[in-house]
Amino acid sequence: MSQRVRALRGFPDGLPDDAGWWRRLMAVAESVMDGYGYTQLRLPVLEATELFARSVGEVTDIVEKEMFSFVDRQKTSMSLRPEGTAGCVRAGIDHGLLHNQQQRLWYAGPMFRHERPQAGRYRQFEQIGVEAYGMPGPDIDLEVIALSARILRDFGVLGEGSDLRLELNTLGDAAARQRYREALVDYLSAHRAALDEDSLRRLDSNPLRILDSKVPSTQEILRDAPAMSATLDAESLAHFEALCEALDALEISYQLNPRLVRGLDYYTRTVFEWTTDALGAQGTVCAGGRYDGLVALLGGGEVPAVGFAMGLDRVILLAKALRGAAAEAGAAPDLYLCWVGEALLPHAAALAERLRGTVTAGRPLRVLLNAGGGKLKAQLRRADRSGAALALILGEQELADGQVQIKPLGGAGAQQAVGLAEAPAAVAAALARD
Ligand code: HAM
Repeated sequence: MSQRVRALRGFPDGLPDDAGWWRRLMAVAESVMDGYGYTQLRLPVLEATELFARSVGEVTDIVEKEMFSFVDRQKTSMSLRPEGTAGCVRAGIDHGLLHNQQQRLWYAGPMFRHERPQAGRYRQFEQIGVEAYGMPGPDIDLEVIALSARILRDFGVLGEGSDLRLELNTLGDAAARQRYREALVDYLSAHRAALDEDSLRRLDSNPLRILDSKVPSTQEILRDAPAMSATLDAESLAHFEALCEALDALEISYQLNPRLVRGLDYYTRTVFEWTTDALGAQGTVCAGGRYDGLVALLGGGEVPAVGFAMGLDRVILLAKALRGAAAEAGAAPDLYLCWVGEALLPHAAALAERLRGTVTAGRPLRVLLNAGGGKLKAQLRRADRSGAALALILGEQELADGQVQIKPLGGAGAQQAVGLAEAPAAVAAALARD
C-alpha cells in the first residue's frame, strides 16, 4: 500500500467551510482600503535574505531563528518573506515610488516564519499590510489606525461583545531610542544575576525586547526599570500627544502601554497593536507603527513611513470565537440545472452558459450544472444540498416542447414550465420573488 504524504507542520489548509470567511474578510478589507484611497502593490514571496537582515534586524527573533532561507543554484541566499514591509520598501525604491512623493499602498498574501506551531500561530500565515510614505505628521498615523479599526469593525470583531483593544506607545526618534536603550542596559546590568537566560542574551543584542519578557522574575525586575517616557525627545512627544488627541476625537479608544516595543527593529515613534484575550497566547491580530529610518537604511533617501499588518488567520479565529463556529455563508448558487438523457448535454450546457451570462441584481447568475449523471430524483437531492434557490429541469419532453421547468427549492411556490428563450428572464423574476 502506498504511504500518504502528510502536510508540513504549521502549513494549514484553507478548507471549503472557511471559504466564506476569507472571501468576506478580503471583501471588507479591500472596500475599506479603497475608501481611504490605498492602491495595491503585488509583491514577490521570495527576496534576498539580506533585505530582511538589514530591515527587520540581524538580532531579532525573526532573522535569527525564524526565516525559511536557502541558497539557490547561483549561490544567492534568499528567504521566503517573513513580513511585507521590507519588500514593500524595496519595491518602492526600485520603482521610484517613494522619494519626494506621497504613496498609500497595500499588499496581501502569505508570510512565512519558522515558529513553533500552535492555535493562531502558523509557519505560513496570511497578512494584509498597509503602508503610507512621505508624510511625517500624526495625521497619517491617525489615518492608518482609523483604517485598521474600520476593517476590524466592519468585519464584526471590534465593538459590542468584543474585547479587542488598541495598545499604543511611542519609541521616540532614533536618538531617544538609543538613550533609552543605554538607560535600560545600565539598570538591567545591575540586576544581571536575577535575569532569565533569554533576557541575559538580549541584554547585549536587543535589550528593548526584554520588556516583552513573560518570565515572572524578570517582570518583577522590570517594574522599577526606567520609563521610556523619560528619555523621549520633545518632538516625538508632541507628535504622540497630537495623535492621542485625534484618536480621542474619532472616539477610537486606546490603552497606553509604555512596554510596547514590537519585535522588529525598524520602528520609530508611534507603535500600536490590536490585541484580544479570546485567542490565548496569540492575541495580537494587527500591529504596526512608524518607521521613518527604513527607506534611507535601504538606500532610498529620507522618506517618513507608517503602516501595519493584520494577521488574517487570527482575525477569522476571533470572528469565529465571537459568533460561534457558524460558517460564514459562501457564494451559494442561484440555480441548479438538472438534465436527464445523455443526448441533452449540449442543450443543457448551452442553457447554463446563457444563464451564466445573465446579469440580475447587479451580478451574473450563479449556475450549477449537474454533472456525473443520476436520475432526476438524485439530481434534485444534489440541488437541495447545493443551497440553490431554484432547480431547472431539462428532459427529453421539455426539449421537444422548447421548454424548461423551473422548480423553487425549499417548499415555496409551484413548478412552472417556461420557453427556453424566456428562461433567463423567468429565472430572474423567480429569484426576485424569493
Ligand atoms: P508583526 O507584528 O510581525 O508585524 O506581524 C503582524 C501580524 O501578523 C501579527 O500581529 C499577527 O496577527 C500576524 N502574525 C505574525 N506572525 C504570525 C504567525 N506565525 N501566525 C499567524 N499570524 C501571525 C509585521 O509583520 C510588520 N510588517 C507590520 C508593519 C507594517 N509595520 C509597519 N508596517
